[in-house]
Amino acid sequence: MSNEKPRRLVVVSNRLPFQLQRKNGKVEMRQSDGGLVSALKSYFENEADDHKFSSVLWIGSAEFSEKRWTSISKRQLESLPYQPNPIFFDKKLYNKFYNGFCNATLWPLFHYFPSFVEFDNDTFKAYEEVNRIFADAVCNCIQEGDVVWIHDYQLMLVPSMIRQKYQHAIIGFFLHIPFPSFEIFRLLNRPWKEKIIEGLLGADLIGFHTHEYVQHFLKTVRMIKGFDHHFRTILLPDTTVKAEMFPLGIDFNKFASASKRDDVIEIKNAIAENFSSKKIIFSVDRLDYTKGVNHRLKGFETFLERYPDWREKVVFVLVVVPSRQIISKYNERKKMIEEEIGRINGKYSTLQWQPVIYRYSNLSFQELTAMYDVADIGLITPLRDGMNLVAKEYVASKSDKGVLILSELAGAANELGEAILVNPFDRDELAESIFRGLNLDDDTQRLSIQSMQARLQNYTTSDWLSDFIQQLDDVKQEQRSQQTN
Ligand code: G6P
Repeated sequence: MSNEKPRRLVVVSNRLPFQLQRKNGKVEMRQSDGGLVSALKSYFENEADDHKFSSVLWIGSAEFSEKRWTSISKRQLESLPYQPNPIFFDKKLYNKFYNGFCNATLWPLFHYFPSFVEFDNDTFKAYEEVNRIFADAVCNCIQEGDVVWIHDYQLMLVPSMIRQKYQHAIIGFFLHIPFPSFEIFRLLNRPWKEKIIEGLLGADLIGFHTHEYVQHFLKTVRMIKGFDHHFRTILLPDTTVKAEMFPLGIDFNKFASASKRDDVIEIKNAIAENFSSKKIIFSVDRLDYTKGVNHRLKGFETFLERYPDWREKVVFVLVVVPSRQIISKYNERKKMIEEEIGRINGKYSTLQWQPVIYRYSNLSFQELTAMYDVADIGLITPLRDGMNLVAKEYVASKSDKGVLILSELAGAANELGEAILVNPFDRDELAESIFRGLNLDDDTQRLSIQSMQARLQNYTTSDWLSDFIQQLDDVKQEQRSQQTN
């Protein structure tokens, strides 16, 4: 590896992994904790001088003004493990793209909510335009040998837009949400669906979280474009494109070591004191209808109804993190969740006890990992989820025993088979699995947590990143040898 010529990695994603805030007259950077940044960080730390990239460039939309950007200090920029390249969009155009085609069309459709999908040619035009601007930003800075890695459903047209200009570019794409079955995908208008598939096929390697999503994609390519595949290699008229599974992991050590931090121990003690000997059920999600919070609450209610002996002995700590607040479906959901919580608490609370403890805000890393560790049950039941890293973080943060109740419709269920897997739509099954979880013996709990931890430790974010890059290199190599044959 070390004798290879150093090259650059160009990461392209809708959001940049930090925000700029004004504090005491100075502009400060606040890093977001996303999987991708931690992957890059640990990749660079682990690979030391032997890594394959001389530098990383990160292109993303700016969530701050140009004025604020120019006032950022050089020292702050140099402290980052990548060089940020923000794109400043026209607000109206960006809104149509983000709140429109991305989150009112693609997001509900790819998560199997076809009745939520808005079909609007105007927002698709904005999607094309914003994708074009992203592609131009890449084309303006690309150098020979660069590896371009594009991320997620917001940017599915970008690969082919770059390919049209740079036929030999090395392009990878990773989809962080589910790729739905063809019967769902086909509901998109013509020519949107053709353009999306053609857009993705501009990449050399297309990554998904699970084997199922790969299969759905391969079938969709065959149905829409007529291209066949051989062992996940798609045969285009003049080249090949590979579709492969790369289940995103977490920074395992960061979560596994959190329980020993003094600041985390302090919070854990406070929680233990506050809830005395009550069992704690915990969940944390972004506010999104795909996360199944209302169904989960109904399952918890059924549990309280069926097992009155457990009342006053268990609390459900439900944390919801604000997200996409402009979109009406998200606002509606907040109301529905809060009404449901009010109803359940009104029905079951006593003077000494409240069944659901609700918080609508972000948690700090310390609060989050403290909650993960003290919780008796992690109740993570999305109605559909590309992967769900919360489930992985919960398992990794456990210093001893604990139970994970996980939706079988989350990508993570493929790797966390020791969890109690549930159908998140079925309130009876949810209620029974809570009961089962609360009664599970300590040894079984420990054994399951330990086997899942071993698996998570084996494929962390940084393994995910190097695996993807390695396979991208292999695909390129294969294409070259096919062309010379
Ligand atoms: C999902 C998507 C990401 C997105 C994140 C937060 O995980 O796969 O691309 O960034 O949700 O959503 P937001 O709309 O706030 O970026």
